Amino acid sequence: MTITFVGHGYVGLVTACVFADLGNMVYVVGHTPEKLKRLSSGDPLIFEPGLAELLKKNLAAKRIVFTNSYSETVPKSDVVFIAVGTPPKENGEADLSTVLSVATEIGKNLGDRYTVVSCKSTVPVGTNRMIAHKIEAVMKKGTEFDIASCPEFLREGSALTDTFEPDRVVIGSEAQKATDTLLRLHKPLPGARVLVSIESAEIIKYAANSILATKISYANLISFICEKAGGNVDEVMEGIGLDKRIGRIFLDPGVGYGGSCFPKDVKALISTGSALGVDMSLLTAVEKINDQAKENIVEKIIMNTSGKKIGIWGLAFKPNTDDIRFAPSTYIIKKLLKEAYEICAYDPEASINSKKIFGAKITFTEDPYAATKDADALVILTEWNEFKQINLARVKKSMKTPLIFDGRNIYNPQEMELLGFSYFSVGR
Ligand SMILES: NC(=O)c1ccc[n+]([C@@H]2O[C@H](COP(=O)([O-])OP(=O)(O)OC[C@H]3O[C@@H](n4cnc5c(N)ncnc54)[C@H](O)[C@@H]3O)[C@@H](O)[C@H]2O)c1
Repeated sequence: MTITFVGHGYVGLVTACVFADLGNMVYVVGHTPEKLKRLSSGDPLIFEPGLAELLKKNLAAKRIVFTNSYSETVPKSDVVFIAVGTPPKENGEADLSTVLSVATEIGKNLGDRYTVVSCKSTVPVGTNRMIAHKIEAVMKKGTEFDIASCPEFLREGSALTDTFEPDRVVIGSEAQKATDTLLRLHKPLPGARVLVSIESAEIIKYAANSILATKISYANLISFICEKAGGNVDEVMEGIGLDKRIGRIFLDPGVGYGGSCFPKDVKALISTGSALGVDMSLLTAVEKINDQAKENIVEKIIMNTSGKKIGIWGLAFKPNTDDIRFAPSTYIIKKLLKEAYEICAYDPEASINSKKIFGAKITFTEDPYAATKDADALVILTEWNEFKQINLARVKKSMKTPLIFDGRNIYNPQEMELLGFSYFSVGR
C-alpha cells in the first residue's frame, strides 16, 4: 500500500518506519526543511531504541520518503495518517489547531483514488467528525474518502516493539471500506482487532491513559499511608497486584507520572467530561495525588539535607526516552532552584532537552559519578537500568554526605543501610 503520515514525532516516525519495514511505500510530511533534511539522511531527531537503525534500513530500501509536499503524497495514498501533536491548552482542553489545519491541507490535496484519512493523534470525542467537515469544505467535487479513528497505544522507550506487537488495533469507523483498508494495512501485525464506532475509538484512548494514570496515583496514595503508618508499599502492591482482577502492572509509586501523554490526556478527559456535565472528581483527585508525589520528594530533600549541593540522576519522564515533556524532573528541579540548591544532573539521553529549559542554571554531566562528586545528596528521578547495578561504594566515596533520595524505589532499603547510606525512598 502507499501511505502518508503527517507528523514525524514519536508516533508519526515510529509508525511510518514500521509500515515501511512491512513493505509499504511510506511518505512522511513535515513542515521544517532542516528537520526533513536530517530525517532524510537517517537522523530520527528523537531517541527511541532501534529507531535510527530501522529508519536507515528503510531509507536505503527507498520505502520511506520525507517531504513537505501534500500535493506529491496525498493523491497517491491509500491511507493518510494524521500524527501531529495535540498539546494541552491553559484550560486543559486539547489544542486541535494543528490537527484541523492539517486536515484542511489533506482535503485540498485528495486525488481521484479512494483515500482513508485516519487520525493517530489523541483527540477528544467528536474531533474525527470535525476533521471530516474540514476536508469536505475544501475537497474537489467527487472526491471519495472516509475518516477512521485509529488511536495509537505505543509507549516511548518501547515504541518499536509496541508497534510491531500491539495488544490491539482499534479502528473506529462507520464505513466498511475504510475498516477493510485499515485491516489490510495492519494484517501483518499481531493483536486483537477492536472495530468500534468513531466516538468509542476516540474515548478508548483517553480512558486507557486515564486508568493507567489512576493506577499510578493509587499506588502513590497508598505510599503516603505507608510512610505515615510504617508499611512497605512494595509489599502492599505485591499483595494486591497478585489479584488477577487488579494486576501488578502500573502500581508503581514514585515521583509521579509525566510525559507527553498521561498529564495532558487526563486533563483533556476532565475537560471533555466537565463540558458534558459529568462530575470528573475521580480524575481531578488523580492529578492532585500526582502533584503531591512530586511535592513530597522536594519536602523530604529540604527537611533532610544540610548542604546545598545536589546530584540528580534521571531527567527523562521515564527510562529509554529523551522526552522530558511534563517530566517530574523539571518540576522538582525548578522547586530546588528556588530553594537555592546547586544542581549537577546526569541523564543518558535527556540532558539536551533539559538544557533547553535550564540552560546554565544547572550543570549537566555525561558521567553519573561526576554528578555525585562532593554532593550533599543524590536524587534519583528516572529508573534507568544503568543505575540499578551501579557501583554504590564508588558513589558513596564520591559524595560529601552519603544521602540518597530515591524517587523510583530502585534499591533495597536494608542493603543501602548496610552500605552506609541514609536512604529515603517512596512508601517504604
Ligand atoms: N508520544 C507518545 O507516546 C504517544 C503515544 C500515543 C499517542 N500519542 C499521541 O500522538 C500525537 C503525536 O504525539 P507525538 O508524541 O508523536 O508528538 P511529537 O511532538 O513528538 O510530534 C508531533 C509532530 O508533528 C509535527 N508537526 C507539527 N505541526 C505540524 C504541521 N503543521 N504540519 C506537519 N507536521 C507538523 C512536528 O514537527 C512533529 O514531528 C499526540 O496527539 C499524542 O497524544 C503519543
